[in-house]
Amino acid sequence: MMATLNPGDEVLLLAPAWPSYDGMLKLIGAVPVHVPVKRDDYHPDFAALEAAITPNTKAIMVNSPNNPTGAVYRPEEIGKLVELAVKHDLWIIDDMIYATLVWADYGYTSPSTFPGGKERTLTIGGWSKGWAMTGWRLGWIGGSTEVANAVKKINASAATHVATFLMPAAITALSLEEETQMMADSFKERCEVIYQLLDALPGITVPKPEGAFYALCDITGTGMSDIEFANRALEEAQVQLIPGSLMEGGEGFVRISYATSMENIEEGVKRLSNWLNSL
Ligand SMILES: Cc1ncc(COP(=O)(O)O)c(C=O)c1O
Repeated sequence: MMATLNPGDEVLLLAPAWPSYDGMLKLIGAVPVHVPVKRDDYHPDFAALEAAITPNTKAIMVNSPNNPTGAVYRPEEIGKLVELAVKHDLWIIDDMIYATLVWADYGYTSPSTFPGGKERTLTIGGWSKGWAMTGWRLGWIGGSTEVANAVKKINASAATHVATFLMPAAITALSLEEETQMMADSFKERCEVIYQLLDALPGITVPKPEGAFYALCDITGTGMSDIEFANRALEEAQVQLIPGSLMEGGEGFVRISYATSMENIEEGVKRLSNWLNSL
């Protein structure tokens, strides 16, 4: 963001978006512009994106597979996002941190594979999700030489580099294909189970998650706000989930993580079910 944006520049976010983007953008004086995704499947609403573009729009943030929605954008949708970026001369900041965790029958698609995408895409990722190395503070960035040189200058003054003793661990992690595949397969199974269980709950609508490890549930059918739902789920069912309105555009949703054991998933949804059925 520091390498491509100036204070006052507007950045399109597909809402609800991972809330840290907001803080990061505000830290450098850039302006997050939240454009809601489609409510039924959490995929981009292209007419709304086009309508949100102003002369100050400088970038679009893409995160697929997505936190918090679990959506994975189809190749043709990524192509359309690139077309939009080319038309309005926008940077594309592509956060592909969940790229190895896809359950849809198409994979993660990089915007840089479409005409005009390569030179305007900054690809960012890390070891936190696909390698379960959250907390190690290890990530990567890819982009044009121009961008890479700017990032190098910024990073030299900000962090210099990641801790040297973590570098061999990161390289080793990249070689663990069998283990990381096993982990991804197990997330896929948990996704199937949690989706079937959540889908049967009264007042809850949930599109099938396509990747990452989150199910975003529309809870408006329960008559509760997402804050009330989350507070009562914690107090009355002892289940912790994230109320969507902590993220702009997330009102009426709650996010449930399935990055936990099958036993916890089954127990957690049973508690939610008992609680909702007792109301
Ligand atoms: C969409 C998204 N991007 C980036 C990150 C950052 O991960 P980390 O700071 O652990 O590398 C997260 C973590 O939750 C995330 O959900």
